[in-house]
Amino acid sequence: MKMKNHAIKLLFVILVLVGVGFWATRGSSGRRFEPTAARLERGRYLVEGPAHCFECHSEVDWDTPGAQPKPGKKGAGVEFAKYGMPWLVAPNITPDVETGAGAWTDEQFARAIREGIGHDGRRLFSIMPYQYFREMSDEDLASVVVYLRSIEPVRNVLPKTNIPEQMKQFLAEHQPIVEPVSSPDMSNPVARGKYLVTLASCASCHTPFKDFAHDDELAFAGGMSFKGPWGHVHTANITPDPSGISYYDEALFINALRTGHVGARSLKSIMPWGYFRNMTDDDLKAIFAYLRTLRPVQHRVDNTEPPTDCPVCRAKHGYGEMNRHLP
Ligand code: HEC
Ligand code: HEC
Repeated sequence: MKMKNHAIKLLFVILVLVGVGFWATRGSSGRRFEPTAARLERGRYLVEGPAHCFECHSEVDWDTPGAQPKPGKKGAGVEFAKYGMPWLVAPNITPDVETGAGAWTDEQFARAIREGIGHDGRRLFSIMPYQYFREMSDEDLASVVVYLRSIEPVRNVLPKTNIPEQMKQFLAEHQPIVEPVSSPDMSNPVARGKYLVTLASCASCHTPFKDFAHDDELAFAGGMSFKGPWGHVHTANITPDPSGISYYDEALFINALRTGHVGARSLKSIMPWGYFRNMTDDDLKAIFAYLRTLRPVQHRVDNTEPPTDCPVCRAKHGYGEMNRHLP
């Protein structure tokens, strides 16, 4: 009898130890990011530049050039109702404890950014560009979180996102799995440009959809419609085809991304040049070098012309009728 009691006790102790061990490993796999000066600076560069987080996560003044956050609203979140999606809310990612990210752990932050799982375990809607951020290197991810912890906390109570059932199903089937990501070869301009184009999610706007997914045949060939407080425009073809931006040189490209002007023509501020302008010349040159390597796609899009039906991207945009079905 005594023996049996002992055995049960021992079993209990083992179970407790295993349990503690389990919690310990769970705990250590929860990432924590040491705030260093280098991370703070790199994080600011990524957030305020290529990743343009605040264009989506703030109430933006669309009438000022470059679509900047309204004063005191940087990172405080916004309801997407004004962009035609009444069920979607970009949350407050400032360090406010009650209404923002102040109480989220680094692990929760990191999972949301790169894996699309919210702090509450919910699968996030894919306008949050986690499919692109999943390529973000471990070190850059740490930097982004460290920087966001340093911005001004803003109290801003917002409703919660309520994703329609059908979309929830789709998201459940398309969850990214993220392994550790090492930094790209920063000394190779094309590789660095590709990495920046991914973090900037250029393709998310410049590649039109077909059957609910981006149409790879038309990668970076433009045509997607954007209608909102900035006006109504279609994205440009940024492939090196004569119908795209083959005529650009480096200087014209840098000027377009810095000023939102292509020569005398101004770009609508939904094109996030107000954020991209914060990138260094070297990074903008790297982006241009990468765009030069894209497969040229024949597809004319001209926002200065009246919209007509396009058989290629199936939207109605300027010069649409001049396009022919892809062979
Ligand atoms: C194109 C718009 C867009 C951009 C750019 C964007 N986000 Fe988001 N983000 C959203 C939307 C919309 C949601 C809400 C999705 C939902 O509720 O399902 C979201 C959700 C999040 C969440 C989830 C918070 C939670 O509830 O746990 C975090 C964290 C986040 N974004 C951080 C970032 C960071 C950091 C960046 C830049 C590196 C960024 N986002 C860039 C639109 C964007
Ligand atoms: C939020 C959507 C969005 C994202 C992200 C985006 N763009 Fe754009 N872009 C647009 C729209 C819309 C236009 C057309 C604007 C207009 O004609 O007023 C445009 C226009 C441009 C033009 C001007 C082409 C021309 O001469 O007409 C260039 C160049 C460009 N984008 C490059 C890029 C690059 C490079 C990236 C990534 C670093 C990027 N865009 C990311 C929406 C976007």
